[in-house]
Amino acid sequence: MFGLFKSAKPHTLTIEGVGEFTVNPKETILSAALRQGVRFPYSCKVGGCATCKCQLKGGKVKELTSSAFILSAEDLDNQFILGCQSQLKSDVTVYVGGLSDGSSEVKSLSGEIAAVERLTQDMVRVSVKLPEPLNYLPGQYALVSVPSITSGPRSYSFATAPKGDTVDFFIREVPGGEMSVWANQSAKAGENITIDGPYGDFYLRPGSGEMLMLAGGSGLAPVLAILEDAMAHKIDRDVIFIYGARTQADLSCQEDIAQIASNWSGAFRFIPVLSEEPEDSDWEGLRGLVTDFIPEKAAAVTQTYMCGPPPMLDAAEACLKEHNLSNDGIFCDRFTNRSYNNK
Ligand SMILES: Cc1cc2nc3c(=O)[nH]c(=O)nc-3n(C[C@H](O)[C@H](O)[C@H](O)COP(=O)(O)OP(=O)(O)OC[C@H]3O[C@@H](n4cnc5c(N)ncnc54)[C@H](O)[C@@H]3O)c2cc1C
Ligand code: FES
Repeated sequence: MFGLFKSAKPHTLTIEGVGEFTVNPKETILSAALRQGVRFPYSCKVGGCATCKCQLKGGKVKELTSSAFILSAEDLDNQFILGCQSQLKSDVTVYVGGLSDGSSEVKSLSGEIAAVERLTQDMVRVSVKLPEPLNYLPGQYALVSVPSITSGPRSYSFATAPKGDTVDFFIREVPGGEMSVWANQSAKAGENITIDGPYGDFYLRPGSGEMLMLAGGSGLAPVLAILEDAMAHKIDRDVIFIYGARTQADLSCQEDIAQIASNWSGAFRFIPVLSEEPEDSDWEGLRGLVTDFIPEKAAAVTQTYMCGPPPMLDAAEACLKEHNLSNDGIFCDRFTNRSYNNK
């Protein structure tokens, strides 16, 4: 009779480039990793932000909630799963961007805000002075914590190429959002702020041919970081950079973009597209959604890097696939939120 009740056994989790860890029955990959001191990236722990996404390289998992709502079709095709929603059904091997490639050492650094600069009506640049330099790949992000917000860290992408012991973030205000409202309305120079990172697998890959960069809203941050670094390294691939914003008042960093364009080693086309600019304004550029212009403007792209709100990325990905564009790769950074699931 007792043979009917098989006692569940712990399984082994291998995190590529990091080590092997025991996962108890009913534990998730994330909770087992954190329990054993691994700096596994996370934010919400409830399947709502995708910060804990990792690639399943071997073995089987049971998913507690469907990841299909939060991960892109590309991620799902490539066996990405959510660490906080996956229990082990066998020994499992995963790859975690920022940890497994060993490209940058993950650190937790307590720094202070050096400056807060308004970029647009609802977005600020927060510059943070750290006690030591932080190395990261342009395009990656950090988990940011401040003492006054106890509901957990939030993810923010580095907005520049690495520059020693200062890091910059662009933080767009989300109505009712704890950290983004704090950053936009009350953050001040001198306040304590903890940066944990770098994390993420959004960074420039080797390749040839034309690159399409797509950014929406604060998705500008990692795209600018990638472009700034690529310019400094004299990458000579042609670039089309389509930047979606609501109105002219939401277009930020125009001087930075102009400087990158004028120093770029190949051809560089910057195409801002406004979705809510008043009809009678003096705007002479394109109006609509970024996806309206992808087939026409990006007919020869080989790789796409895109960052912004999930609905924009989903639409762009579908458009690229429909037109057979970007066959060498589509790399996305989805600014998902703790409870913001593809709204
Ligand atoms: C990898 C990654 C990188 C990111 N990088 C950046 C970045 O560089 N700059 C940046 O500004 N943000 C970035 N984000 C989003 C950021 O982490 C926060 O989710 C965002 O700032 C909101 O946090 P909050 O504390 O203000 O809101 P919360 O207090 O967590 O949420 C409050 C409410 O707002 C809603 N909400 C939150 N976000 C949105 C949204 N975008 N649209 C509609 N409703 C929303 C939630 O559903 C919730 O009801 C990134 C996210 C990820 C996963
Ligand atoms: S930490 Fe897993 S989805 Fe947010």
